[in-house]
Amino acid sequence: MPRLLIITSTTRPGRAGTELAAWARDLAVAHGAFAVEVADLAEIGLPFLDEAEHAGSGIYEHEHTHAWSATVDAADAFLILTAEYNRGITAPLKNALDFLYREWNDKPVGFLAYGMSSSGLRAAEMASQVAVALAMVPVGVVALPLRQLRDTGLTAHHAEGLRELLDSLARYDGALATLRAPQVPAGQAA
Ligand SMILES: Cc1cc2nc3c(=O)[nH]c(=O)nc-3n(C[C@H](O)[C@H](O)[C@H](O)COP(=O)(O)O)c2cc1C
Repeated sequence: MPRLLIITSTTRPGRAGTELAAWARDLAVAHGAFAVEVADLAEIGLPFLDEAEHAGSGIYEHEHTHAWSATVDAADAFLILTAEYNRGITAPLKNALDFLYREWNDKPVGFLAYGMSSSGLRAAEMASQVAVALAMVPVGVVALPLRQLRDTGLTAHHAEGLRELLDSLARYDGALATLRAPQVPAGQAA
């Protein structure tokens, strides 16, 4: 079964990200297309990027980088909870993305955006741009308007949106898996 990694983007005490990650995890498990894991950036506690070599080299000095590399490498698809801070993505998310390169490549990513004035859509747009630089394939966004959620809570409508995003992630994972498969060197094909 392909593996979905749900990544939180915030680390502050009392964050909405904790509850939203639990909701997304339960829904993704029930969806059934993926084995689901959550990477909580607050628990993982990466420092600001402290590797001497560019991530593209795959040369890592620090244990925290090896651990983060193994977590991301094991995933086939990503769902990133994209909180909006000052019209952009959060610093912990950008830092966690910058730490690695090859581990992100050729994998689909969806964004569960949330925020106040634009429901996190500006952050999702920015995250999408960064994802493309890391050779991920952005497949869609579900936006959660926090002001409205205060009155309604998470509704069937939001759940339907997330299920559709998970469907897309599963479809793209099937297509992109061939790119990630080890290539047979020319002349050695059966
Ligand atoms: C530093 C900071 C900046 C924020 N900037 C924006 C913003 O530009 N646009 C917006 O819609 N919401 C903004 N918000 C509101 C957040 O999207 C909202 O508080 C959300 O719950 C943050 O995610 P978290 O609770 O997981 O930390 C900001 C919140 C913080 C803490």
